[in-house]
Amino acid sequence: MIIAIDGPAGSGKSAAATELARLLGVTHLDTGAMYRAVALEAMKQGVTDQPAAVTALSQQVNIDFDFTSAPAAVLLNGCDVTSAIRLPEVTRVTYCAADNPEVRAELVKRQRLIAGRLASVVTEGRDQGTVAFPDAEFKFFIDARPEERARRRVHQLQLKGIAEPFERVLEDILIRDRRDRSRLVGPLKPAPDAIIIDSTEMDLSAVTETLAQLVRAEGQHR
Ligand code: DC
Repeated sequence: MIIAIDGPAGSGKSAAATELARLLGVTHLDTGAMYRAVALEAMKQGVTDQPAAVTALSQQVNIDFDFTSAPAAVLLNGCDVTSAIRLPEVTRVTYCAADNPEVRAELVKRQRLIAGRLASVVTEGRDQGTVAFPDAEFKFFIDARPEERARRRVHQLQLKGIAEPFERVLEDILIRDRRDRSRLVGPLKPAPDAIIIDSTEMDLSAVTETLAQLVRAEGQHR
């Protein structure tokens, strides 16, 4: 069973996907981590502005998930980069991977391979219901107002000891929204058959419970 969850940055989809996977006892695949890992490697190699080099490295790097911890640890060429890929400076250059159609093709291929090895998966990103898994049994699109998403992101960063001003985080979110929604390949948009959930006024448990109820209700009808 594939449950695809898409949505913009800070919509709460990652936390909801993690929690839903835990509730259902299935694996959570964070596909944003794969774009971040490619961008981190591109940063290390100083090639973020060279699309051909980013494509080449995306085809060469090892990106593994250690699913024994939740959230899963992310391994880039065997090194644990779980925290490094979330640094704001990496977030800001992740477009060098996400906007590159060849990198997207490579990572979508890898996502399908990972999902193919798992009995069930909650997979989360921007194009999971539209491109990577158009035949997913469940498709959800989680959204929230940009100001609320920025507020949540500031809080998440604070918990990690990273102080970023609200205005800067909001600006970053609006820039990423524009990029995510306007990219030619794999843009952020709900699949025509996705269930759209606005989480602006919902906390994590409300979003997770809504998703779990929908999955369980549908399961009973199958
Ligand atoms: O979900 P996230 O913030 O960790 O994603 C990091 C970046 O990767 C974000 O700019 C959007 C991009 N991304 C994507 O283009 N397609 C995906 N399936 C997942 C993430």
